[in-house]
Amino acid sequence: MLLIKHDKSFHNLYVLIVLLLLMKLAPGFISGVKGATFGCIERERQALLKFKEDLIDDFGILSTWGSEEEKRDCCKWRGVGCNNRTGHATRLDLHRENYDQYLSGKISNSLLELQYLSYLNLSGGNFQGNNFPYFIGSLKNLRYLDLSSIDVTGTLSNQLWNLSRLPYLDLSGNNDVNFKSIDFLSNLFSLKYLDLSGDNLSQATDWMEMVNKVPFLEVLQLSECDLSSSSPPSLSSTNSSKSLAVIDLSYNRIASSTFNWMANFSNSLVDLHLSNNELQGSIREAFANMTSLRTLDLSSNQLQGDLSSFRQMCNLNELYISGNNLTGELSQLFQDAHGCVESSLEILDLYGNQLHGSVPDITRFTSLRELDLSWNQLNGSLPQRFSQRSELVSLHLNDNQLTGSLTDVTMLSSLRELWIENNRLDGNVSQSIGSLSQLEELFVGGNSLQGVMSEAHFSNLSK
Ligand SMILES: *[C@@H]1O[C@H](CO)[C@@H](O)[C@H](O)[C@H]1NC(C)=O
Ligand SMILES: *[C@@H]1O[C@H](CO)[C@@H](O)[C@H](O)[C@H]1NC(C)=O
Ligand SMILES: *[C@@H]1O[C@H](CO)[C@@H](O)[C@H](O)[C@H]1NC(C)=O
Ligand SMILES: *[C@@H]1O[C@H](CO)[C@@H](O)[C@H](O)[C@H]1NC(C)=O
Ligand SMILES: *[C@@H]1O[C@H](CO)[C@@H](O)[C@H](O)[C@H]1NC(C)=O
Ligand SMILES: *[C@@H]1O[C@H](CO)[C@@H](O)[C@H](O)[C@H]1NC(C)=O
Ligand SMILES: *[C@@H]1O[C@H](CO)[C@@H](O)[C@H](O)[C@H]1NC(C)=O
Ligand SMILES: *[C@@H]1O[C@H](CO)[C@@H](O)[C@H](O)[C@H]1NC(C)=O
Ligand SMILES: *[C@@H]1O[C@H](CO)[C@@H](O)[C@H](O)[C@H]1NC(C)=O
Ligand SMILES: *[C@@H]1O[C@H](CO)[C@@H](O)[C@H](O)[C@H]1NC(C)=O
Repeated sequence: MLLIKHDKSFHNLYVLIVLLLLMKLAPGFISGVKGATFGCIERERQALLKFKEDLIDDFGILSTWGSEEEKRDCCKWRGVGCNNRTGHATRLDLHRENYDQYLSGKISNSLLELQYLSYLNLSGGNFQGNNFPYFIGSLKNLRYLDLSSIDVTGTLSNQLWNLSRLPYLDLSGNNDVNFKSIDFLSNLFSLKYLDLSGDNLSQATDWMEMVNKVPFLEVLQLSECDLSSSSPPSLSSTNSSKSLAVIDLSYNRIASSTFNWMANFSNSLVDLHLSNNELQGSIREAFANMTSLRTLDLSSNQLQGDLSSFRQMCNLNELYISGNNLTGELSQLFQDAHGCVESSLEILDLYGNQLHGSVPDITRFTSLRELDLSWNQLNGSLPQRFSQRSELVSLHLNDNQLTGSLTDVTMLSSLRELWIENNRLDGNVSQSIGSLSQLEELFVGGNSLQGVMSEAHFSNLSK
């Protein structure tokens, strides 16, 4: 009755009555229809069972997979998804969900039967000692392929050549696979997302040229790939992506000659991660044209120079240059950075350089939330006062040679972390500390502070 009440059209009512009659007359009929129209395809079911056979499932991850009658519909198995019109399996998502629960064994090529598979995620599987599942290069309907950290071995060269319609490829964290070449990228012209981080690409000396051949690439993750910038691309870059927004090349052996190549992506780059490489020389000019950058990480290199090339980066929110060879006066460095970067910067990390001089009025960076100037050679004093109220949440000035007293910090009213230990501060601690009601961490040890700390210093520091 309920069903009939909701069905407004006569046609539906008619169909319902016919179905009810059929159900009464032939109880097997309905489930038969269901099996054909909505259930899974028998051939694919067999293929999945075969796939399960070759796996070692110590944790019962595939307990819903089986040949028993009540488990007939493989579209309802854990990790399997089907097209609800054709019944073909289109998704297989068996990524590791728990650190200590995973699938192991062998990835059976019976998956080749699943020719309609568009999403395959085996990320984090423990297929130790087995070869890379090369046959996956024949699943031409794949749109998402995630085989990250699957603990396989073997040699990969052009077995993935035919995945020319694949937009998303993650093969990261497979350090034991020998990437003989990544030339297959030149045929993966649908790629938008590529992650090969943690793979050993030391033999792929033409990686820049290959990346230039992927015309719609948006995200390129190549950290910890043992990459060097030895051979600059010889071909013209006419096909290189106009939409590459994210490049991560951190933890490689890349030298400054790579800047020329990166300049090809100046107009689109938003996030650029180059930390822990072999970048040397001056940062002046290299980034001047990358006006869309939001995050730039150059930490742990050997760069020199100043911040003047960042002046007109009106979108730059995060700038990391820690652990480089910046020298000179901090106040001069900040002077060089005048321009709209003053209002866009939110995080500035200059820790571990050789900057000296005093700390200028940092509140000129009106959006700054985190400033790290620790482990430099700052040898002047703090400003007597800050000119305007600031958003600063974290200020690290520790391990310098700052002199003078801990002055009025009332304007830094959002501070949660103030690290100023291991300097040469002396004099009394200003009671203005007590106005930092958001403060959670205060390190002032290793100085020569004097006087009496009283309740007035602490009464508002409830956090
Ligand atoms: C079938 O799948 C499509 C696309 O995934 C979805 O929009 C639709 O709601 C589904 N229909 C049913 C009956 O589940
Ligand atoms: C695969 O699963 C992992 C979770 O382990 C997830 O982070 C990743 O985004 C998934 N890959 C795809 C292509 O959805
Ligand atoms: C790619 O597909 C073509 C045509 O189907 C086939 O001849 C070739 O062997 C395939 N290449 C690889 C590397 O799978
Ligand atoms: C990468 O592989 C090469 C040999 O092809 C080897 O010499 C090098 O040590 C490997 N790098 C890493 C980081 O494992
Ligand atoms: C650019 O792409 C076109 C069509 O995909 C191709 O014919 C041409 O060889 C490519 N050019 C370069 C320099 O790779
Ligand atoms: C693109 O990269 C090539 C190779 O590094 C370089 O010669 C060329 O100048 C770059 N083009 C632009 C517009 O920066
Ligand atoms: C920035 O762009 C201008 C104009 O396109 C060009 O002349 C200059 O060489 C570029 N600078 C860098 C560092 O790429
Ligand atoms: C950068 O600084 C380190 C440590 O002070 C030094 O060993 C290195 O030679 C310097 N590099 C350059 C290019 O100045
Ligand atoms: C700080 O150090 C620099 C360079 O070592 C030196 O030139 C300057 O005189 C010092 N300033 C103070 C106030 O000690
Ligand atoms: C420092 O504090 C002590 C004790 O609270 C006080 O007697 C002295 O005048 C203070 N010195 C300065 C320079 O404010």
